[in-house]
Amino acid sequence: MTKSIDAIIVAAGSGQRLRAEVPKAFVSLAGKQMYVHSLLRFAAHSAINRIIVVVPMAKVEETKTAIKGLAGPKEILVVAGGKHRWQSVQNGVNASGAEWVMIHDAARPFVSEVVINAVIALSDRYNAVIATTPEVDTIRKFVGDRALETLDRSSVVRVQTPQLFLRENLVSALDHAPFLATTPTDEAMLMETSGIPVGIAPGDPLNFKITTQEDLALAEALCEKRLR
Ligand code: CTP
Ligand code: MG
Repeated sequence: MTKSIDAIIVAAGSGQRLRAEVPKAFVSLAGKQMYVHSLLRFAAHSAINRIIVVVPMAKVEETKTAIKGLAGPKEILVVAGGKHRWQSVQNGVNASGAEWVMIHDAARPFVSEVVINAVIALSDRYNAVIATTPEVDTIRKFVGDRALETLDRSSVVRVQTPQLFLRENLVSALDHAPFLATTPTDEAMLMETSGIPVGIAPGDPLNFKITTQEDLALAEALCEKRLR
């Protein structure tokens, strides 16, 4: 049976590490605002029902105007985000009525159909699925300027989005977020504390997150060479 899946694109961060004039998701990349790249990819995917874009409060009206007619027949909702990423996710999830929600960072403009499919495929076996890539560098612990032991890189993965969750599980996991000792950087961390097993699906190195100006330059170069 086909799953009912809403895509939630979180675009409400300020982008402090990018240091641009506008919030990161609104920075221009190859002639389009960054969040529009992933929005179009989810809009083109047949398994996605509705799309919910979570933006800074001050950008809600502007975004509603900008997306008119962008995603073809698919319904797109625009909601305001919160201070922390998990709060933005919560606002998006509350606007969805779907059985499943696929959370995606607007800062990962190069998400592909292959990655979306891989994540959906594994949700036959897990109620929470994340896209991941293998670690290729040697990974070490350290303290100050001194290296400690090397970790076994074959036992770790790099975590990306999209991340797909049964919505009711994510709703209850998000309720626990304010009581955690550390602010979660993704929703799978919340699943972990709720004891829900998380499946790892193959992501893509080109589905990298734009964090710094160097990442943005790399993304522009990929678009110019039509590699993405
Ligand atoms: N995000 C969000 N709401 C927040 C914080 C982050 O919707 N309160 C979104 C960002 O817009 C981004 C994704 O979560 O698409 C991943 O976050 P990150 O790369 O950390 O983006 P920013 O928080 O904007 O950047 P920085 O941490 O450098 O300020
Ligand atoms: Mg951040």
